[in-house]
Amino acid sequence: MSGREFGGPWTRAKLDILREYLETYTTMLKKQRFNLIYVDAFAGEGSWKPGKEYDRDYGDFRTLRQGSPQIALKIQDKAFDRFLFIERDSQRCESLQRLRSEFPNRNIRVVNDDANIELPRFCRTLGDFDRAVVFLDPFATEVAWETVEVIARTKKIDCWILFPLMAINRMMPRGKEPILALSERLDRVFGGQEHWQSLYGPPLQPSLLDPEPSQERHGGSKEIADCYRRRLESVFERVAPTSRTLTNSQNAPLFELFFAASNPKGASRAIPIANHILLKKW
Ligand SMILES: C[S@@+](CC[C@H](N)C(=O)[O-])C[C@H]1O[C@@H](n2cnc3c(N)ncnc32)[C@H](O)[C@@H]1O
Repeated sequence: MSGREFGGPWTRAKLDILREYLETYTTMLKKQRFNLIYVDAFAGEGSWKPGKEYDRDYGDFRTLRQGSPQIALKIQDKAFDRFLFIERDSQRCESLQRLRSEFPNRNIRVVNDDANIELPRFCRTLGDFDRAVVFLDPFATEVAWETVEVIARTKKIDCWILFPLMAINRMMPRGKEPILALSERLDRVFGGQEHWQSLYGPPLQPSLLDPEPSQERHGGSKEIADCYRRRLESVFERVAPTSRTLTNSQNAPLFELFFAASNPKGASRAIPIANHILLKKW
């Protein structure tokens, strides 16, 4: 595995949260007759290495760390029955295939495709006794809202969603509305213009010199995250009341980690567990 460098302390926090949830989730459903499936929709290559700039945070930063696919494969108490790893980059897929050969007793499928195409296909295959955890862990704005909606409609999936706060913040200028190319990308992430546009309004201090004042953005990262939360709440059975803001070394918000459950019965157990984990100090 090449273990290309990316991420930092926030990556570790995100993966620790995922690990604890997967352990608790599989143990909780151990005695039920569900087929448990783990789906890593932005799977990477199985391992990761923090960037050199995080040397001081990781004394042993040269060593490879377990990425989300490895973490899921190593869940022991009750292993997942099936694994689906989706990855668009073909080289990373080759690493995932090698990882697959290290776990001959696990039922693993690696798909080299766009998650926004493969996830809807996967959702259509789910049977009555299938239950899945989907991890959406993009680098930036790759998750289309339509994909999130399809997941929510299955009523069989718990979903961890890494929402790209910094990328979205940059796409939404403060003093004017975004240019067309950016507004189309925002539409794709939020599932329509009206959602992100609700953060824009007339300037709070209008200029007397400007007869037709342009719009300005009201609110920062928190309001953007709240806007996406409302979108999740509109399609999922429940969304964990706590989410986690993952920041960089300058304390700037990079991502917001959300948890959402789609199964009406399952949500009453899954949400308190996820919320408890999200509230912990990592
Ligand atoms: C943050 S990394 C994932 C890290 C991984 N979860 C881990 O813990 O090691 C994001 C991955 O998503 C892949 N990717 C980006 N866009 C994608 C898409 N539309 N569909 C599938 N994979 C995509 C990238 O190639 C990259 O490997």
